Amino acid sequence: MGSCDRSVLPAGLATLVGVLVLGSPFGLVATAQQSRSAASSVTFTKDVAPILQRSCQHCHRPGSIGPMSLISFEDARPWARAIKNRVVQRQMPPWHVDRDAGTLHKFKDDPSLSDAEIATISAWVDGGTLRGNPADLPAPRQFDDADRWHIGKPDLIVSMPVEATIAEAGPDWWANYTAETGLTEDRYIKAVEAKPGPGAAARVVHHEVASLLGPDDAPAAGGTLVEYAVGKNGDVFPDGAGKLIKAGSKIRFNMHYHSVGEVIKDRSQVGIVLYPKGYVPKHVINTVLAPNADDLDIPAGADNVRSDAYYKMERPAHLVGFMPHMHNRGKRQCLEAIYPNMAVEQLNCVNYDFNWQIVYNYADDVAPLLPAGTIMHVISWHDNSAANKNNPDPRNWVGFGNRTTDDMARHWLTYYYMSDDEYKAETAARVRIGQHATNQQQ
Ligand code: HEC
Repeated sequence: MGSCDRSVLPAGLATLVGVLVLGSPFGLVATAQQSRSAASSVTFTKDVAPILQRSCQHCHRPGSIGPMSLISFEDARPWARAIKNRVVQRQMPPWHVDRDAGTLHKFKDDPSLSDAEIATISAWVDGGTLRGNPADLPAPRQFDDADRWHIGKPDLIVSMPVEATIAEAGPDWWANYTAETGLTEDRYIKAVEAKPGPGAAARVVHHEVASLLGPDDAPAAGGTLVEYAVGKNGDVFPDGAGKLIKAGSKIRFNMHYHSVGEVIKDRSQVGIVLYPKGYVPKHVINTVLAPNADDLDIPAGADNVRSDAYYKMERPAHLVGFMPHMHNRGKRQCLEAIYPNMAVEQLNCVNYDFNWQIVYNYADDVAPLLPAGTIMHVISWHDNSAANKNNPDPRNWVGFGNRTTDDMARHWLTYYYMSDDEYKAETAARVRIGQHATNQQQ
C-alpha cells in the first residue's frame, strides 16, 4: 500500500451536533447512562429536524417516493423506532458505501449521516422523542420545482418513446425503453441530467438509468450516460472535459417503477447541454463496464459467492466515479486499484442493495489519479441463501442473465485519460495540498 494521505473527513462530520459528543466521537457506544443524560436534552426542533431536512425530506415528503412524510414533528414522531432502526443500520438514507473499508470517502452529493448524527437520532428516540422549543426549528427546506433542470436549459431533450402506465397496485417493475436522439453530427456533452416526468411521475420512479447506444444499438461512449434517483441533480463535467455523443445515437432508459396506490403515468427524460459545434474537449469522459464477471456460477443456497473482473487503464487516468450493478442476490462489491508496481489499494466497498442504483462520484479534489497500466479490480459477492430477504428462491442455481431473477456482477467506471505531463502535474498538486494522491509511480 502506498502512503496516501487519508485525512479527508466525510462531509457530514462538519455538522457535528455538539450536545452529543459525549467526550468521544462514538456516540453509538456510549454507556446507557451517558445516553440517557444526553438524550434528555436532544429535541426534535433543535437537533433532529436539521438532519431530516438535509438527508431525508427530499424523499420523505408529500408527493415524493418515501412511504411517509418526515417534515413535521407530528409526521416523524410515530416513526421514531423505525427511523432509529433504519439509520443505525445505515439503510436510510440510501447510500451504501462502506465507511470502514477503502481509502476514499469524499463524494459529491453525499446525503449519508455521520456517526454523531446517528447518535443524535438514537438519543432523541431513546430519550422519549421530545419536541423541544418551536423557536429552534429551522426554516422549512424549499424543494425544487419538478420541472426544473439543474444543468440549465438543455440543448437537447430526449424522452422515452412511449408513456409508461404504473398501475395503482402491483409488484415493483423494471423496463427498458430506447429513444432516438435525432442527432445528425458528433457532439460533446458538457452536462447531462435525467428526470422523471411530468407531474406526479416522480412518485413512482425509483430509478432511471440512461445509457448511450450507437445507431446499431451497441453501448457507446462506454454505456451509462446518467442516472436519476430522488435528490439527484445533474452531472456537469469540468470545463474542457466532455462525453462524445455520436450522430445517430440512441438513449436507453432502464426504469424501476413502484406502485403508490393510484394510476400514474411517466415519460422520463434526459436533458443534455452540448459544447458548441465543432468543439473537441481536451479530456473525453468515458464510462466503461468493468468487463467479464458474466460467467457467474452461484450454487443454490450459497452465501458469499465471489467473482472478479478487471479493467486496465491504458493511459494515466482520473477516475470520476463508479456504479455497482448487481441483481437481487448482489451483496457487496469492492473496487481496488492494482498499480503497475503491484501495490494494491482498496478504494471503496459498497454494501449493495438492488433497490437503489447509485453512482458514487468522487469529490474532484480526491478523485483517484491512476498511473498508466493500473488495473481496476472489481470483486463481487452474491448471497443466494434464504437469509437474503431479496432472494426470490434460494433453491435455484443462478447464473448471469438480463432477467431480474438472473444475476449480474457489473461495475461501471467513469474516467478520463490524461497525458503523462498532465498526470504528473495533477499528482504533484495533490501532494502539495495534502489530498489523496496515489504515489504509485512506476
Ligand atoms: C432517496 C430517497 C430516500 C431518502 C433520501 C430517504 N429515504 Fe427513507 N425510504 C425511502 C423509500 C423509497 C422507502 C420505502 C422502501 C424501503 O423501505 O426501502 C423508505 C423507507 C424508510 C423507512 C421505513 C418505513 C416503513 O415502512 O417501515 C424509514 C423509517 C425511513 N425510510 C426513514 C428515513 C430517514 C430517517 C431518512 C434520512 C436519514 C431517509 N429515510 C432517507 C426513500 C428515501
